[in-house]
Amino acid sequence: MAQLDDLRKQISLVESDLDEGLLGLTDQQTLETFRIEFLGRKGRIARLFKVLGELDADARAEAGRLLNALKDHANTAFDKCRDKLQIVTLEGRITKEKVDLTLPGVYHSLGHLHLLTQVQQEIESIFLRMGFDVATGPEIESEYYNFEALNIPEDHPAREEWDSFYIDGSHLLRPHTSPVQIRVMEQTDPPVRIICPGRCYRRDTQDATHSPVFHQVELLWVEEGLSLANLKYVIELFVREFFGEGYKMRLSGDFFPFTEPSVQVHMRSRGSSDWLELGGAGMVDPAVLTNVGYDPEKVTGFAFGFGVERMAMLRYGIDDIRTFLTNDLRFIEQF
Ligand code: FA5
Repeated sequence: MAQLDDLRKQISLVESDLDEGLLGLTDQQTLETFRIEFLGRKGRIARLFKVLGELDADARAEAGRLLNALKDHANTAFDKCRDKLQIVTLEGRITKEKVDLTLPGVYHSLGHLHLLTQVQQEIESIFLRMGFDVATGPEIESEYYNFEALNIPEDHPAREEWDSFYIDGSHLLRPHTSPVQIRVMEQTDPPVRIICPGRCYRRDTQDATHSPVFHQVELLWVEEGLSLANLKYVIELFVREFFGEGYKMRLSGDFFPFTEPSVQVHMRSRGSSDWLELGGAGMVDPAVLTNVGYDPEKVTGFAFGFGVERMAMLRYGIDDIRTFLTNDLRFIEQF
């Protein structure tokens, strides 16, 4: 019996050490060390079980009951403590990692397409809907494509109209998009229906409507039976789509060596009396059709070349072409 009493004391000591110790624990790692100290294979409770073998049969039954109760108590107490510590850890993280949704965010400004690119894309989409393809050509062009094939032979006074930047004796930065007409016709049998938007360069003196670098959009339609009436219709259709109501268009006679007859297209908004030259147009000259191997007896065609900056200026009320190149965000961000 004395052995049993002694065991009872030890059990109660283990139990109170355990309960007190658990109260002081603050993290999962020390809890695990503490658990092994009590419930491990060689822990304090396992060591008490060893005493069982030394007891007589009656006392052993009682001691076994007491020890099992201690083990159950220890297991439950550890589980509770683990749950409690998990909650404490979680609450700690929630407080520490809390996001204050009322704080202002970090502002990242997003760029966007330049107005001229937007306008060019809009022009392309209008003509794509009308059944035209988009063609491109090189910005460094040969004299042949830029002049000769367009019916402007060497020493022709019209060459001065396109006062150009030369790269070498026979290559120049293209002053208009018309050479693309030749490149496309050389590669394709009629019918041909293309537009070509692109950058052009001229030794023009800079002013409110002239820039040494600017954009044009060229149009070319070659097929059997086309006339000036078709050209006028296409221009009117485009102008209505792009500008909407509120604008007036005027066609007047002009001269281009590669079109015959040729016209000039001017536009003005209804509220204004100032006409702005948009570009030139006309029926493709038979000499040009012959140069690319077409039969001018069979097919006819028409073409135009409009200034893209001029179109944007008219539509958005921009009064100086130089504004497009200033990179002034106050201007750029308006569109
Ligand atoms: C031509 O360049 C002809 N290739 C157009 C053409 C094509 C006629 C097909 C017939 C058939 P012009 O030199 O007029 O034509 O230029 C056409 C337009 O380009 C001008 O009306 C203007 O809108 C624009 N442009 C010309 N030079 C400049 C410049 N320096 N700055 C801004 N826009 C310009």
